[in-house]
Amino acid sequence: MKPLYEGKAKQLFATDDPQLLRVQYKDSATAFNGEKKATLSGKGELNNRITSLFFEYLREHGVENHFVKRLSATEQLVKRVEIIPLEVVVRNWAAGSLANRLGLTEGTPFSQPIVEFYYKDDELGDPLVTEDHIQLLDIATPEQLIEMRQISLRVNQLLIQWMDERGITLVDFKLEFGIDADQKLLLADEISPDTCRFWDKASGEKMDKDRFRRDLGRVIEAYEEILTRLGGRADV
Ligand code: C5P
Repeated sequence: MKPLYEGKAKQLFATDDPQLLRVQYKDSATAFNGEKKATLSGKGELNNRITSLFFEYLREHGVENHFVKRLSATEQLVKRVEIIPLEVVVRNWAAGSLANRLGLTEGTPFSQPIVEFYYKDDELGDPLVTEDHIQLLDIATPEQLIEMRQISLRVNQLLIQWMDERGITLVDFKLEFGIDADQKLLLADEISPDTCRFWDKASGEKMDKDRFRRDLGRVIEAYEEILTRLGGRADV
């Protein structure tokens, strides 16, 4: 069966219900806008299971999202949405591109979370955009931006606490949103060690995709540890 859409880490398939899609998580890992590539056996299953746990937790705590249910080790059923081509990044500690852009030392805590928007466009390299840029390009309405910011900050509050109880610092993460058939804004895509920075509170060790980006080794082991601390278990 041909996917409706194939991304770097997932494939999307139609189902018998036009409102629902099947997502298949892949073992491929990419970084630096696709310049660095590898296959990490077991990553698809881990990200599928971790994302499912995060979306279930968020739904239980009042954050509606596209997740319907996990179908198998590597698949989940989700509501069909039209993805808004923005990546909403929330940061609690300096790391990654923000540390580089502003010359901040990695690991500097922020007194309040920083929210950023990036325009999802591979050819442009997903540039950072301001609210005026978003209006200029007609990517989202001002009301949608306000709602995306509010939901992202709520997700941040909920996940900071949930991860903290499990000995993990939530450094930063990226969210994506879509519009469903009823024109409702819904949190979508994935929440996993591919899209978040997690640091072990005790050791400061990185437990996310930075292990792959920076060739730190033990990538799958770190993802497994995240799943275990969230109370999940892989079949692999
Ligand atoms: O690279 P940067 O520091 O801007 O990333 C911020 C956060 O957003 C990180 O947790 C990273 O994993 C995530 N991100 C992502 N997809 C991108 C860019 C960033 O999931 N295309």
